[in-house]
Amino acid sequence: MRTLSFRKMAVAAVVALTLTSASCAVQESATTAVPAPRPTAQPSASAIPSPTAEVSRRPKPEYLPESKQPAIEPELVSLFAAGTPTPPATGPSATSRSLSGQDVTSQSGPSTPATSSARRNPAPPGSVDCATTKCIALTFDDGPGPHTARLLGMLSGKGARATFFMTGRMVRANPGVARQVAGTSGMEIGNHSATHAQLTQVGSAQLRREVVGTHATIKEVTGRNISVFRPPYGSHNSSVDALAAEAGESVILWDVDTNDWQTRSTSATRRAVAQKARPGSIVLMHDIHSSTVDAVPGIIDDLQGQGYVLVTVSELLGGTSPGRVYSRR
Ligand code: NI
Repeated sequence: MRTLSFRKMAVAAVVALTLTSASCAVQESATTAVPAPRPTAQPSASAIPSPTAEVSRRPKPEYLPESKQPAIEPELVSLFAAGTPTPPATGPSATSRSLSGQDVTSQSGPSTPATSSARRNPAPPGSVDCATTKCIALTFDDGPGPHTARLLGMLSGKGARATFFMTGRMVRANPGVARQVAGTSGMEIGNHSATHAQLTQVGSAQLRREVVGTHATIKEVTGRNISVFRPPYGSHNSSVDALAAEAGESVILWDVDTNDWQTRSTSATRRAVAQKARPGSIVLMHDIHSSTVDAVPGIIDDLQGQGYVLVTVSELLGGTSPGRVYSRR
């Protein structure tokens, strides 16, 4: 009887310890996933070079690369930190990104367009089978720009493929470069909206132009019928996903954020990939920054040296379903 009591006490102690550990793990995880807003002030629009004169003339929205602002709104972060899972006023199933690149709400659910499961875009013919091969997808956003052609040469020279998420305005500003990407063997082009707007905060007419209109722009200029869409800032909701589905595009986020737009450091960008990438990763970078393009040869060498095959997003995922959200394989 006495022995049993001790056993009960021992079990209770173990349970208490386990619960304490689990609680700490959750807390740490939450802290990691949703860090406090950075104390540094956001740079002014003039501190971030605009890719085109058209952009610099626009007072709003400012041109800011991925994950710079709306996805990490202080009020949003504090809500998540307090354990409130649903972001306010951004749509019925809005999803935002934390600074670490992890989703902070579920990616799909009942709001996922019903049409998305009926169709599936196949992986490109001759693709590597990433179910059995160590694959990573490098992605470059916000172009095409002045460094894109140089990047294409680096990728091709090392037998690496990549995906370029282009904005409609940059395709219009640099149609020759967009066509050069389309004409380079193995490269994939994706839709990154027309104006890099915060898509959860625009009206339905603009949202349609940003998503479906840019699909048409890219097809008109490059001839490519694209199947992948990346919302600016990783910010999307069921309305965005539904229009992506209508355009025949899946919604592609990422699991490795290099923060290249912030550091503007070749060594830091290379180091971020080396530290964070794992099999099946989708790596977020921006080919509008020379410092990022300078990092690419080293990044390729690092990854290929570890046996990775660098593929497009559609290859990595083995094909995608329109309207469905992916952040890694
Ligand atoms: Ni972007």
